Amino acid sequence: MAVAYNKRTHRCASLRIEDAGKAVTLAGWVNSYRDHGGMVFIDLRDHEGLTQLKFNPETNPKAHETARALRNEDVIAITGTVAPRGGNVNPKLPTGEIEVEASEITLLNKSAPPPFAVSDESEANEDLRLRYRYLDLRRPVMQNVFRLRHKLGKIIRDYFDENGFVEIETPFLTKSTPEGARDYLVPSRVQQGSFYALPQSPQIFKQLFMIAGFDRYAQLVRCFRDEDLRGNRQPEFTQLDMEMAFVDRDDVMNMVDGCIQRIFKGILDVDITLPLPRMKYAESMERFGIDRPDTRFGLELQDVTDVVRDTDFSVFKSAIDAGGVVKCIVAPGAADKLTRKITDGLTNELRGIGAGGLPLTKVVDKGGDTEFATGVAKFVQPFCKALCERVGAKSGDVVFFMPGTFGDVSKYLHFVRTRLGQILDVIPPNRWDLLWVIDFPLVEWNDEMKRWDSTHHPFTAPVEEDIPLFDTDPGKIRDQAYDLVLNGEEMAGGSVRIHQQQVQQQVFRLLNISEDEAQAKFKHLLEALQFGAPPHGGIAFGFDRWAMLLAGAQSLREVIAYPKTQRAVCPLTSAPSEVSDAQLQELGIDHRPEVKAKREQKQE
Ligand code: AMO
Repeated sequence: MAVAYNKRTHRCASLRIEDAGKAVTLAGWVNSYRDHGGMVFIDLRDHEGLTQLKFNPETNPKAHETARALRNEDVIAITGTVAPRGGNVNPKLPTGEIEVEASEITLLNKSAPPPFAVSDESEANEDLRLRYRYLDLRRPVMQNVFRLRHKLGKIIRDYFDENGFVEIETPFLTKSTPEGARDYLVPSRVQQGSFYALPQSPQIFKQLFMIAGFDRYAQLVRCFRDEDLRGNRQPEFTQLDMEMAFVDRDDVMNMVDGCIQRIFKGILDVDITLPLPRMKYAESMERFGIDRPDTRFGLELQDVTDVVRDTDFSVFKSAIDAGGVVKCIVAPGAADKLTRKITDGLTNELRGIGAGGLPLTKVVDKGGDTEFATGVAKFVQPFCKALCERVGAKSGDVVFFMPGTFGDVSKYLHFVRTRLGQILDVIPPNRWDLLWVIDFPLVEWNDEMKRWDSTHHPFTAPVEEDIPLFDTDPGKIRDQAYDLVLNGEEMAGGSVRIHQQQVQQQVFRLLNISEDEAQAKFKHLLEALQFGAPPHGGIAFGFDRWAMLLAGAQSLREVIAYPKTQRAVCPLTSAPSEVSDAQLQELGIDHRPEVKAKREQKQE
C-alpha cells in the first residue's frame, strides 16, 4: 500500500526524543544516503529541516530494498516508528537524538542527478544556481532568506495597517514616472506606435491618492528601472511605498522611525533607540564625501585647504587656484600596515575611477616633533606642524591627500575611506548605524547637459523660505527630502511634495521642462493639483535592500527569488528573448530597420 503522503503527521524538523515510540508519516527529498553494512540511512529533507531514516533489511526487507535504490533529491514518503539514536546522537541537528525506523516507503518521484549539491555548503557558481534556481531555493539557507523576507513584509504591513494606512494597487501598464532611470516600455497592440511605461515607482499615483482623500496609503509594490546594474540594484525590485496627507517632514520621519524599530525587534531582536539621528546633506558631504555616510567607523574627510593655501606643490596649488579644495584622511597608526604594495594598489583602483593619483605621506617622530616621511613628504613638510595639529595626526599615522573640485575630492576620498575601512578592518561587525540625511539641495547642476537636475524627483517640495532663490541662486534651494541610510546603504528615500500647481510649474521651468513637455508627461498630476490637493509627503523603502542587509546577504540576487544577472538576464527562463515576427507585426513595431533587415535575411 502506498504511503499517504498527503497525511504527513510531522515535518522534518519536529521530532524529538519525547516522541520515541510514535508512529509517524513524513515526506520530502533524499538529502543524503549511506549504506552501513546492510543498514541504509537516509537524511530526509523538507522545508523545515532534516530527519534521519533507518531502513533495516531484517525487519523491513521490502522498504529496505526500495531505499537501496534511492539517490539524492528523489521524492519519498515513509511511515515508521520514532526511536532513540542511542550512541550516535548528532548534536548539530534539532532532530539529532532520534531516527525513524521506516516500515513502509513510497517513491513519489525519481530525480535526475542534480547539477550541484543541494546543501548550504554547495560551491556552485551563481550562473548555475540561477539557472536551476528551484534547486538552489531548496537549500536551507535560501529557505530561511525567503521566510525572513516574508516576515519582514508582514511586520511592515501590520505596522502600517495599525497606523491607518490602506493598501491600494497601482497600475503597471502606465505612463513614465521619472526617478532618474530609463523606462521599460511595453508596446500597445491596440494603439499601434504607442507604448506604456512600466512604473519606476508609483510616485504620481500615490500623490493622486492623497488628492483623492485616502489620507494614508502604503503598498508593497514592484518597480521597474532600466539602469546599470550592481549588487544593490535590480531592474525590477520591490518598494514599500507610502504617502500621508496633512503632514510635514518630521511626521513622515517619525512614522518611519516606528516602523524601523519594529523591524529590528521583530527580525533581529535588536532594540533601536528613537528618534533616529539626522544629519544635514552638507555635513555628510563635508565629513564623508557622500550623501549616504557609513558612520560605523572614523577615517573622516578633513578640509586642509587653508593650511596648505601658500604651497608651491603644483597639484595642490592648481586645485586651489581653480577654486577647489584640498582635503585629507588620516589613518591612525596605520603606517606599518599600509605597505607600499597596498597603497600602490589603492592608487591604481582610484585611477580606475578617474582620479589622477593619491598623494600620501607618513607621520614620523623626529626628536619629539612630528615630521612627514615618504610619499609627498617634501612638498608638505613646511606645513607639517600646522597640518598635524589641525587634523590630529601623530607619529605612526598615514595621511592621504586629495586636491580638486569639491565634487571630485568627495567622490575620490569617499572611495579611499571605504577601501581603507576594509583594508584596516575597522568596520565593527553586528552594528546597525541608521541615520536620516536631510536638507539636500533641490537641484544639482548637470555640467554635461548644462541644466539643473532634481536631486530627488521633480515633485519634491522646496523649503518654503528658499523659494525666492529660484530666480537668484537655484543651487542653494534646499528641499524637504529625507533619505534613510543604514551602514552606508540608501535604504529609503522620500519627501514632502509640492501640492500647489504654480510651485510645481516653477520647478518644471527650473528643470528646463517646457510647458508642452510638462503637459505631455504630467498633465494628470498638474490637473489634479488644481482640485484641492492637501499638503502631503511620503517615502519608499527599498524592500529588497532591507531583506538583504537583515539576512546578511551580499547581493540583492540572494534575496530575490528569480533575479536578473548583472546583464539583466534571467538565467532560468532566458528572458529577455526574441519574439516571433508575427508578434512584432501584430504590435506594429516591425518597421524598425534592424527587424526588417533580419526578416528579409531569413526570407532569402
Ligand atoms: P527612490 O528612487 O529613492 O525613491 O527609491 C526608493 C528606494 O528604493 C530602493 N531602490 C532600489 N532597490 C533595488 N534596485 C533598484 N534598482 C533600486 N532603485 C531604488 C532604494 C531607494 O532608497 N518615489 C520615490 C520615493 C518617494 O519619494 O516617496 C522613489 O522611488 O533603497
